[in-house]
Amino acid sequence: MFEQIERVPGDAILGLIEAFNKDSNPQKVDLGVGVYRDAHGNTPVMRAVKEAESLLLKNETTKSYIGSHGDPRYGQAILSMVLGADSPVLAAKRASATQSPGGTGALRLAADFIKTHLPGKGIWLSDPTWPNHLGIFHAAGVEMHKYPYVDAENRLDFDGMLATLKQIPQGDVVLLHACCHNPSGFDLSKEQWQQVLEVVRERGLLPLVDFAYQGFGDGLEEDAYGVRLMAENLDEVLITSSCSKNFGLYRERTGCLIAVAKNAEQMENVRSQFAIVARENYSNPPAHGSAIVVEILDSAELAANWREELTEMRDRINGLRRDFVDALKPYGLDQQFAHIAEQRGMFSYTGLTPEQVDRLRDEYAIYMVRSGRANVAGLASENLPYVAKAIAAVVK
Ligand code: LMR
Repeated sequence: MFEQIERVPGDAILGLIEAFNKDSNPQKVDLGVGVYRDAHGNTPVMRAVKEAESLLLKNETTKSYIGSHGDPRYGQAILSMVLGADSPVLAAKRASATQSPGGTGALRLAADFIKTHLPGKGIWLSDPTWPNHLGIFHAAGVEMHKYPYVDAENRLDFDGMLATLKQIPQGDVVLLHACCHNPSGFDLSKEQWQQVLEVVRERGLLPLVDFAYQGFGDGLEEDAYGVRLMAENLDEVLITSSCSKNFGLYRERTGCLIAVAKNAEQMENVRSQFAIVARENYSNPPAHGSAIVVEILDSAELAANWREELTEMRDRINGLRRDFVDALKPYGLDQQFAHIAEQRGMFSYTGLTPEQVDRLRDEYAIYMVRSGRANVAGLASENLPYVAKAIAAVVK
């Protein structure tokens, strides 16, 4: 039977890891997959995580199952981090947390829930969006549609976005990126979030807010503006959260699906369905990452250390954005790429074409996603002049 199986190309983002590792060019630069890198190109285990892990190793007493919703202490910690410790939504017991295998797992839970419990409802994704959004909702069998997000001049197309949102059928789901839009790096201002809220409310849409980069844009609280606005002003919201980036727990698969409902009873009903979806997909989520997060957030000292390191990471990325534009100045390209300093998070839609990206890879061993998305965290003072020179060569 297997003779009928066709080979398919690898994932457009994860495939870059292998291609980069195989490249023997000593000058190679990895601007591909979205992982944080320090000035030496490493993705370190965060200091507080290391400490929490050694405490866990000493104190852990069991490897027994943690249940389909995961560790309740983790759920509470994530609810506070995402919605705010003094959130009126939490006070009203309108929100629930279901631990998931990473942000991707949370998205898949949401997708399966939508398919089963909101039959006939489609999902609207920004154009462009993280390519795996397409994979996840396709796999779950949810009908997908697009709303404009970036225009042909590589700018945020907010008017186009709003105009399309105003036409979405009532009750459909709209996927919003809370901050650090992946892949573009263009985020909504507070006023724009307010306008989105109004349209979502008028049309009775269900927002699914993907919050994979909390703390990587302007700060843990600042980045939560849009999520909290939606949760506090709407009866129903879904939120997917991830500790992959802000705790650096990528391979520990540590995420969460949050449901905000009209009241505590409806929240419990929805929550009970999430447990079924989780059980049917993977039963229980992995526990190591969530135990680390609980250990850190339960300790004032570890939490302060973690926040400090997260701030260092964010500042480094935002500094690199400015340095990148400066490095392009000698080539007269600083205006063309000025948007890079304005964008937020790890990613930048550079505006480079797939052909230019191919040339960067083949001629300079610089790797980025073919859409022109660059992981700014892969830059460093040592490779910036090289990258700027290569970009100048391919755009001229
Ligand atoms: C990315 O977009 O590079 C990250 O979110 C990693 C992934 O899973 O694609």
